[in-house]
Amino acid sequence: MDNFTYCSPTRYLFGRDTENSTGEQLAAIGCKKVLMVSGHSSARKSGLLDRVEASLRQAGIEWVELTGIDPNPTDDRVYEGIGLGHREVIDGILAVGGGSVIDTAKAIAAGIPYDGDFWDFFTGKPVEYALPIGVVLTIPAAGSEGSGNAVITKKDGLRKISIRTDYWLRPKFAILNPQLTETLPHNQIVAGIADMMAHIMERYFSPTTDCATTDRISEGLLKAIIEDAHRAAAPTFDYQARANIMWAGTLAHNGICGCGRVEDWASHGLEHEISAVYGVTHGAGLAVVFPAWLTYVSQTKPEKVAQFARRVFDVRDHDDRAAAAEGISALKAFFSSLGLPITFGELGITDPDIPQLVKRVHINKGEVFGGYFRLTQSDTFEVYKLML
Ligand code: NZQ
Ligand code: ZN
Repeated sequence: MDNFTYCSPTRYLFGRDTENSTGEQLAAIGCKKVLMVSGHSSARKSGLLDRVEASLRQAGIEWVELTGIDPNPTDDRVYEGIGLGHREVIDGILAVGGGSVIDTAKAIAAGIPYDGDFWDFFTGKPVEYALPIGVVLTIPAAGSEGSGNAVITKKDGLRKISIRTDYWLRPKFAILNPQLTETLPHNQIVAGIADMMAHIMERYFSPTTDCATTDRISEGLLKAIIEDAHRAAAPTFDYQARANIMWAGTLAHNGICGCGRVEDWASHGLEHEISAVYGVTHGAGLAVVFPAWLTYVSQTKPEKVAQFARRVFDVRDHDDRAAAAEGISALKAFFSSLGLPITFGELGITDPDIPQLVKRVHINKGEVFGGYFRLTQSDTFEVYKLML
């Protein structure tokens, strides 16, 4: 196990009706006027925004709105939010939505107090200050409600870049009411499940050995997600299953599964090119990428994949290669049983431009990337080919 610092300062308010305390929470972190960021229509249609606004009114919080944030959010909306925030002199940001809304809110929160171009933070400049961020989560998926990360696509060149901060971009509070997920379409709930599993696996596949506590936390979370996934994705809304999935989604990505070890993150790099170029849902893209990456990696490094197979999917084979292969088949079968894609074709990409994806991912991630398995251009090419 390596030395580590773990700082997860977010206050989580979990359960029914918790969105009614949004105003109170904003007041508690010192906000008087906030920029409220939201997506297209779901939060307004469900009545959530009305309830949040009532709560803000009750707490005496003023607000201005930035709405219509697209999935896979882009830099133009961040610039718009920064401009609005400056004009209206706001002192905090409230995100009501999923990862796309929260990430836009985070980039705005860092951009408003900064004199330069916020994109500097996405090209290496550390975030040294940001306005406080509060979240009302509507979809268990990206884990942005507890993470220090933000992912924004620069429209010019479609560069989808992820940044990670230790402290400043972690929300001050996150309101998690599983009931708010009732309006989610099936494809979004299952994509969210794939995304949160990927967040755990990106950390699980690590070159650091002797990390039993973090390994077991990760395996336990993966098993809990697998156990409740079908109930959570069923047409009849199941509050308890959604509650377990929602909490798992937060724990998957608030850093606890990475404590004490080097993380991988190659699969997210590979997927971000797919969602940037083809506009697919991030979690659905990961359901295609992860089994392909595991297949490629297990050809030369089968041990940890075999451990994953045995502990998460109860595979019994004693031979590491055979166990790894069985575990990967079980993961694919699990994704398919939820209706997730596991090939480019199933993702709706009939003729992927693999050389272009390879070129782009190495421009964004470097000549070699991945903390567990170092992917070169020829490796990346082979992994993308395994998704056909
Ligand atoms: O815009 P609306 O109308 O709200 O519709 C949204 C959107 O179309 C809909 N939705 C959300 N909550 C709903 C709902 N529909 C009905 N009922 C509800 N309760 O769902 C669609 C997808 O929303 P989005 O915010 O894009 O989903 P998600 O949370 O999966 O976020 C994906 C984004 O997060 C990034 C991804 O790359 C992608 O851009 N990620 C962010 C991370 C982070 N900051 O830590 C980590 C992740 O690995 C990920 O990369
Ligand atoms: Zn993700």
